Amino acid sequence: MHFSPKSVRGNWPRVTDAKSTLLSAIVARGVTGREAQWILEEFAPGCDIDALVDVVAAAERRAAGEPLQYILGHWPFRQLDVDIDSRVLIPRPETEELVDVALDELARADVSAPLIVDLGCGSGVIGLSLMLELSLRGVMANLLAVDQSADALSVAKRNALKHGLVRTSFVMSDWFSDIDSSLQGHVTLIVANPPYVGATEFLALDPVLRHEPRSALVAPDRDGVEGFRDVYDIVTEAPRWLSDGGTLIVEHGYLHGVVARECATTAGFHEVRSVKDMAGHERFLVATWR
Ligand SMILES: C[S@@+](CC[C@H](N)C(=O)[O-])C[C@H]1O[C@@H](n2cnc3c(N)ncnc32)[C@H](O)[C@@H]1O
Repeated sequence: MHFSPKSVRGNWPRVTDAKSTLLSAIVARGVTGREAQWILEEFAPGCDIDALVDVVAAAERRAAGEPLQYILGHWPFRQLDVDIDSRVLIPRPETEELVDVALDELARADVSAPLIVDLGCGSGVIGLSLMLELSLRGVMANLLAVDQSADALSVAKRNALKHGLVRTSFVMSDWFSDIDSSLQGHVTLIVANPPYVGATEFLALDPVLRHEPRSALVAPDRDGVEGFRDVYDIVTEAPRWLSDGGTLIVEHGYLHGVVARECATTAGFHEVRSVKDMAGHERFLVATWR
């Protein structure tokens, strides 16, 4: 709220009345606690009673089960405030950990101007976080953000613009298929958080996930491993694109650790390991090329 001291004194009782009216309207629709506060701050930051219609509409969407992140339209991810809507996956906390793993790998590789490919970029959170945080460390990277969804790419583009991350280009592609072949052998880091939930597993998960694009979550099985096909395809194709010493980091299902390592070893990667997420599950394959 941006009141002058005078207007604070003059308007205080009316502001608090408006605030309690707005909050009551949210709570009456069954939204309580921090979520109610967030809706209020987003749609009526000055507690203006004229915002009542928007506040009620947001509370009704939340009461109907829509994720709060889509209703607010933006969400924090590391140092970014990313715009999101129902065309993209809601960024997950474990994916923030992937960025730490990637930053460690890039520091180890010590490449002055790394080329990064973010496969299945969605809202762009992984690649754009890397770009921002590398720039804060004085590293000027280039990012190619890839998705097969035109909708996702338009959200990612908006987020790149929003954060001024101009050394980013975008390509609509089924994984590597439409990436410029001149990049083969030149990519320092490939990061990917592909779909990795099996179709059967998906049926048993929280129905709230059905608000997110199914194509961002569900992957076909591969060799009897549920939801593994996209991880398999990426790991198998990545060697062609990586520079010597380049690294692939892929987020995968919590039961995929062993098969992901086997797959990377078979593909010819030199160093292959898994990194656990904060919940203690093997979550990230880290594989270095040659
Ligand atoms: C799990 S979401 C990850 C989004 C974002 N990277 C994140 O971590 O929040 C997977 C993304 O992969 C994209 N995707 C799925 N299949 C793809 C394919 N064959 N080629 C390229 N992108 C694909 C989806 O559109 C979706 O944006």
